[in-house]
Amino acid sequence: MAQRYVMSIDQGTTSTRCMIFDHSGRLVSIAQREQQQHFPKPGWVEHDALEIWRNVDRLLPQALREARLDSAQVVALGIANQRETTVLWNKHTGTPIGRAIVWQDMRTDELVEQLRGEPGAGEVIRRCGLPLATYFSAPRISWMLENSPGLRERAENGDVLFGTMESWLIWNLTGGSDGGIHVTDVTNASRTLLMNLDTLDWDDELLSFFGIPRPMLPGIRSSSEVYGKTTRVVPGVPIAAALGDQQAALFGQTCFSAGDAKCTYGTGSFLLMNTGNEPVRSTHGLLTTVGFKIGTEPARYALEGPIAVTGSLVQWFRDSLGLINTAAEIETLARTVEDNGGCYIIPAFSGLFAPHWHSEARGIIVGLTSYITKGHLARAVLEATGWQTREVVDAMNADSDLTLNTLKVDGGMTADHLLMQFIADVLGVPVTRPMVAETVSLGAAYAAGLAVGYWPDLEALRRNWHRAAQWTPRMSTNRRSTEYANWQRAVELTFGWMR
Ligand code: G3P
Repeated sequence: MAQRYVMSIDQGTTSTRCMIFDHSGRLVSIAQREQQQHFPKPGWVEHDALEIWRNVDRLLPQALREARLDSAQVVALGIANQRETTVLWNKHTGTPIGRAIVWQDMRTDELVEQLRGEPGAGEVIRRCGLPLATYFSAPRISWMLENSPGLRERAENGDVLFGTMESWLIWNLTGGSDGGIHVTDVTNASRTLLMNLDTLDWDDELLSFFGIPRPMLPGIRSSSEVYGKTTRVVPGVPIAAALGDQQAALFGQTCFSAGDAKCTYGTGSFLLMNTGNEPVRSTHGLLTTVGFKIGTEPARYALEGPIAVTGSLVQWFRDSLGLINTAAEIETLARTVEDNGGCYIIPAFSGLFAPHWHSEARGIIVGLTSYITKGHLARAVLEATGWQTREVVDAMNADSDLTLNTLKVDGGMTADHLLMQFIADVLGVPVTRPMVAETVSLGAAYAAGLAVGYWPDLEALRRNWHRAAQWTPRMSTNRRSTEYANWQRAVELTFGWMR
């Protein structure tokens, strides 16, 4: 019998990737396309949902071709996606209503500020585990409904559908306006501000708080079950998983037990810790979110600390300051000096996310003297990622009884050994990187493969995880606490900056 495989789509912020994995979790083929970023106004970020769909339409067959496989050899397809990005479309024609509003978009700033003063605002976090912030989907849906004449009425009549990218893709892959399935999964739904964390269903109070008509919302399903079969592009393949990309990475890193944690270091970084079967309500600025739910098993929850600017600070150092030519050069430059020379960079380019949630904070560089060279600045750039990770881990330790024993890492920045060593140093725990770096795609493939019995259980997936590198803490406790105190003082300076 021909060998069988699992396929996944990682629909991310900058690109869409399709990958094929074999039974040992080995990557067999990969096809990728970037999508255009639209910035129509300062603070606005948009994607063209049709462009993303067309990319998937090309990439799935391309990944199969490159692996010399037939779609009949694919037992299941899993989808991981950029979370919170909001698409509305016409149910009858499949045409998107304007462009998708991306998770980084700040246009709902004023609306969110206004909502914070409304009765019921204090209830929001208790019901859905998220603070009222521009980051999540609900204010974007409200904004679209308000700013497009007649749209609210059409949404109330069920003629307009909402989804994050996985809903949009599943609907299209299963037939689109010709009977497409309109679903999301619990992890994506847990990022909308609309799902009740205990019932795992849309919450009527929250729907009414944000003024969102229920008929436009997808059905909420588990992260690992067969939603339906593809009828287009690669027909007949069961679509058997959907997870927000950061939850997919948690799954791909096999963080299945309470206390297991991973951080994905990309443009921004996202640290998630599995907290078990009960949601842990954060009182220290973290998000309570669903980690994953396999079929009818109870959901696993997670605490999350999203950090807005990490890799993008390196990009800024390269593109805006021109101090390096490639991102990889930052490590070489940082190694020209022993330490940061007393210099700290707080990259609050568009406010600070976890654990501060100060949208009005702006970035600063402190400690400049004539001694400072570009090498010190390079160190301060890398260290900013380390200290931001430390802030999130401190909040996690304060919020839950679980203590972080080791941090699993993935993402582009993990190629930087200096940075990984610094993270181990400032956290005081080992940092480990797996052999398969594509944890987001692998997580979606794992969840899909589990749903169709390709892998029997979580234990089989755990056995596939192999360590490629490990960094153990070396920094003295004294130095760690002095430098952390410096960092924290510098962070406070960013809060009062914009008056
Ligand atoms: O919450 C936003 C996150 O899901 C985006 O991840 O990797 O697509 O930038 P990424």
